[in-house]
Amino acid sequence: MPCQASTGIAARSSLPSDARTSRSLAALAARADSDPRFTRTVGSLRAAGCVFAEDEAAILIEADAEGAVDDSSPRLDTLVARRVTGEPLEQIVGWVDFIGMRLQVRVGLFVPRQRTRLLAEHAVAATRHAEETLLRGAHGEAGAATAAPPVVLEAFCGVGPVASLVAASVPGADIHIGDAQAEAVRCAVTNVETSAQAGESDAAVTGHVLDCLRGLPDELRQGISVIAAVPPYVPVTAVDFLPREAIDFEPSTALFGGPDGLDLVRRLITESLDWLAPDGILLIELGTDQVETATAFATAQGLGVRSHLGEGERDEDEWDSDDDEDGHTVVLELRRIR
Ligand SMILES: C[S@@+](CC[C@H](N)C(=O)[O-])C[C@H]1O[C@@H](n2cnc3c(N)ncnc32)[C@H](O)[C@@H]1O
Repeated sequence: MPCQASTGIAARSSLPSDARTSRSLAALAARADSDPRFTRTVGSLRAAGCVFAEDEAAILIEADAEGAVDDSSPRLDTLVARRVTGEPLEQIVGWVDFIGMRLQVRVGLFVPRQRTRLLAEHAVAATRHAEETLLRGAHGEAGAATAAPPVVLEAFCGVGPVASLVAASVPGADIHIGDAQAEAVRCAVTNVETSAQAGESDAAVTGHVLDCLRGLPDELRQGISVIAAVPPYVPVTAVDFLPREAIDFEPSTALFGGPDGLDLVRRLITESLDWLAPDGILLIELGTDQVETATAFATAQGLGVRSHLGEGERDEDEWDSDDDEDGHTVVLELRRIR
């Protein structure tokens, strides 16, 4: 669908976090004087209503240079034309910046949102806590040489942003990732391995094609310390509020979760009881207006619930990262009541 000037191309929430500062306006202005391709690209993007036209132009030109066969390649025109139709920048260039990690993204896969940082940081904290608990337990056992690693699962992993941060941050973790799309699982495995290497971590990663949690290997039963997930949680009734970029270029199965958005959240809560270790925790990203219903459901399953709010909505004493871009995201933390 051609981009309408009245609505414009949505601002990419996943532009590199340093895009505005590293490409200072002065540097971009100097480039406009010396690089006609830059000026032309900015003009095309701006005419299509692109909000950060200079930043995106710089990224598209960089992508063109990386893939160019020779200097006269018309590839840049193709990349710009794709962006003008509204295709997400990340799918065009093949990567997204997520908390400083450059993660691979492929056409037809869900693009991680910056708001998922909230969940990823909770998953890292929970994994570290599980590692310490396992270590203490091993020291308590006479003759125990080493502690078992904490087992972490990113369910509904897409390209694996949460598992990638855990892999980079917790060197000894045993990481599993699962998604219904085999292509997403392949992409996520690459991202987690790359992130582990960048963090000089020897975290292990195993990919699984799953339907929710169905398809996990039996040996993980009752053994997972942390399950973290961004299930599709948009209510089908909210379709008109989503940006066209999502509707046109991301699979609807990655976005929608039934009439109230919670179909897969309910499945995940129920199925997690078979896989969580006795003191394991389940972390789920969802919208603020879904918390009450999801909490009531989880409580009825015998789980205790805490919610961690996105920026602008959290209590003063909540932890202090600048996590949520829009203030409408919540991470639910669920665990069995002892
Ligand atoms: C909202 S995306 C989240 C992806 C990733 N966690 C992220 O934050 O970028 C939801 C993902 O769930 C996957 N999915 C949808 N239905 C599924 C199901 N029944 N079982 C497993 N995965 C599913 C989609 O393929 C998609 O990758």
